[in-house]
Amino acid sequence: MEIEPFAVEMWMNAHENHCAFNLAETCVSSLTLDELLRLSGRNADALAELLPRKLTYGAIEGSDRLRDAIAALYETATRRDVVVAHGTAGANALVWQAMVGPGDRVVSLVPTYQQHVSIPESLGAEVVRFPLRAEDNWLPDMDALARAVTPETRMVALTNPNNPTGALIDRTGLERIAGIARTANAWVLVDEVYRGTAQDDDAIGPSVSDLYERGISTAGMSKAFALAGLRLGWVVAPEEVLAAVSRHRDYNTISVGLIDDHLAALALESADRVLDRSRRITRANLDRIDAWIAAEPRLDWVRPRAGTTALVAYDLDVPSERFCLDLLAEEGVLFTPGSAMGMEGHVRIGFANDPDALEAGLPRVSAFLARRGDIRPDTSSHARATAVTQP
Ligand SMILES: Cc1ncc(COP(=O)(O)O)c(C=O)c1O
Repeated sequence: MEIEPFAVEMWMNAHENHCAFNLAETCVSSLTLDELLRLSGRNADALAELLPRKLTYGAIEGSDRLRDAIAALYETATRRDVVVAHGTAGANALVWQAMVGPGDRVVSLVPTYQQHVSIPESLGAEVVRFPLRAEDNWLPDMDALARAVTPETRMVALTNPNNPTGALIDRTGLERIAGIARTANAWVLVDEVYRGTAQDDDAIGPSVSDLYERGISTAGMSKAFALAGLRLGWVVAPEEVLAAVSRHRDYNTISVGLIDDHLAALALESADRVLDRSRRITRANLDRIDAWIAAEPRLDWVRPRAGTTALVAYDLDVPSERFCLDLLAEEGVLFTPGSAMGMEGHVRIGFANDPDALEAGLPRVSAFLARRGDIRPDTSSHARATAVTQP
């Protein structure tokens, strides 16, 4: 089976361990085991429970305890609506394999996580890329979406909160998407791995699986829950989907690791405290980036409303990969080039990592930009606004 190279993952694999200031990271600064035990209000007892366990397969669909804790993140789910997978990446791959085949029409809102375009394409689906635009605050134009979702559409796919833009579709917006999909009897897959990171709301936020009878939610422990090392994700979906997913899952997953299952349950039973920590980090970091961007005439953005990444437009006549390679070589700062997500002229900045890396890294980016010579006149609204107000 042919598949496109996964551009963002290739970029991260090549550079993330060779930079001084990682401002490309998308996970909330990861928890240590010690921090997890403290946050969850448990001490070494939680680890001691593991000691007598035989290291055989974990519970095949995920332990009851874990699936109960996952279901509690949703308004209507019970453990029977949950299947556990190897990360959100595993959950997404399973859903695509199980639900889409040759000739199926898929409408994928882009920019997005590349799985949601390249996997259905590799399976022979006809993938329509539905563009999200900065002038719409990176939110879907619902009238245009209604035209794109034809009666032949089998699946509509999106990430919410969005990676890379940090846009957040609220409950009303999700209900509108569900209404559009309903007219085509289409499934809606929402990758919700960044759910729970809203900038201005402490609630976890709506899930498509609570709003739409053909809604499929995928998510996992990596981003909002700051535990990527567990490699644990899940699918919450109607029975028909879970049955199809489970058929594929027997071939490529069997079970997740029982230690991962145990620690994920521990974290999710303290979801409020873990998410609270994540929001404190992402909110403070985003304010810091906001102030920095306001003072950088070459940069422009739509301030994210959630998630861990911002998509920033730059006013420089250089491809984004060159921009990022030069920035890394000259200043040791890692961004992700927009070209890796089909968004040339942009860079993606992660704002959930260690605040010290941000504090030290941003002045270096400023120095890099300052060496790039004069600003071209009239190329970005931000540059124009700055030009008008400067003496
Ligand atoms: C939208 C989205 N989905 C899925 C993943 C993969 O997540 P996981 O580590 O849970 O497999 C990522 C990672 O960057 C992501 O951004």
